[in-house]
Amino acid sequence: MPLRLRMIVASFATVVNGCAVVVDRVPPDIARHPSLARHHAAKFPIGAAVEPWQLETRAGQLLAWHFNSVTAENAMKPANLQPVEGRFDFAAADAIVDFAGRHGMKVRGHTLLWHEETPEWFWREADGKPATRERVLERLRTHVHAVAGRYRGRVYAWDVVNEVVHPLGPGCLRDTRWLQVVGPEYIAWAFRYAREADPSARLFLNDFETTEPTKRACLLRLVADLRAQGVPVHGVGHQMHIDLEKPTVAEVDKTLGLFAALGVEGHITELDMSIAANAAPGPARLERQAARYAALFEVFMAHPSVTAVSFWGISDARTWLNAKRSPADLDQPLLFDAQLAPKPAYFAVVKK
Ligand code: G3I
Repeated sequence: MPLRLRMIVASFATVVNGCAVVVDRVPPDIARHPSLARHHAAKFPIGAAVEPWQLETRAGQLLAWHFNSVTAENAMKPANLQPVEGRFDFAAADAIVDFAGRHGMKVRGHTLLWHEETPEWFWREADGKPATRERVLERLRTHVHAVAGRYRGRVYAWDVVNEVVHPLGPGCLRDTRWLQVVGPEYIAWAFRYAREADPSARLFLNDFETTEPTKRACLLRLVADLRAQGVPVHGVGHQMHIDLEKPTVAEVDKTLGLFAALGVEGHITELDMSIAANAAPGPARLERQAARYAALFEVFMAHPSVTAVSFWGISDARTWLNAKRSPADLDQPLLFDAQLAPKPAYFAVVKK
């Protein structure tokens, strides 16, 4: 393309996702497909979970074009942010938040408290004895204030707690050290500390299989009880790690309605659809995936309480589902394939 024409092209900035994306910074073969985010701009932001090393790659260009929200897949987990008491490592999280700022994207914070990613030092005194309930709560408050305080005004929604419900656990709660050491009120304290640290952030309780009736009943009761105590629970994060069969679209629709009746927002927080669970992905399964994603988006859009939809990854090139799979047997759960090209699922969703 002649330099002069290129300069003219470069000056045309397309306003996508509320930010000026200079056309020539997004490769034409990406920009030729309608932006997912712009397609849904009137309904809800479209997000993706990211790692910092993806941002300055072609995956980052796909992200900037098709998504207007990001979630730190791992960088904001407590064990990664504060691996040693008092020593915070914000570099990876800052890179993600800074990228989002440059591209006019929202940021979902994930997560202030998760039993799986709580560093061991939380549970020990300096002399090695078990930490007291008061010490653990003090450490939680320090962590939440340091993190939610740092990103105040730049992270619009937090997964304050992650995966705290278990239908077979004591009082419907997962039997973790948080429950054993602090008691069930650890959840309320996490929300109160988050509210103290960032009064404007939307505060979510995030979990998986929220459509499963027994677990859903537990979650509904927990959210209702917390809100009745005045705990600032603004919404529920429905992770939605699903497959071609379950949950049914009807169950998703029912679940979103039940939580909306509590007066809370619904965020779809970690959407992906495994198609390799019990057979190799092929054209037929990709078409079924496309139809199922389209049906799900119809349901999401039918509920005003759904105020965000985020995928757990940018493309099939990087998905947690393949962490333990062999290269010959990879899953393909997202809308873009391992070469970052749009799949039938992408075309089905942008038609809705
Ligand atoms: O970065 C290190 C690397 O340096 C090291 O060589 C490698 C081998 O040990 O580990 C790498 O860290 C891994 C990290 O993912 C980045 O790939 C961790 O071991 C691994 O445990 C971590 O797994 C993450 C998992 O949560 C546990 O935190 C997945 O990427 C992430 O997708 C997954 O996401 C969770 C959500 O946070 C909560 N909902 C469920 C979802 C799926 O499990």
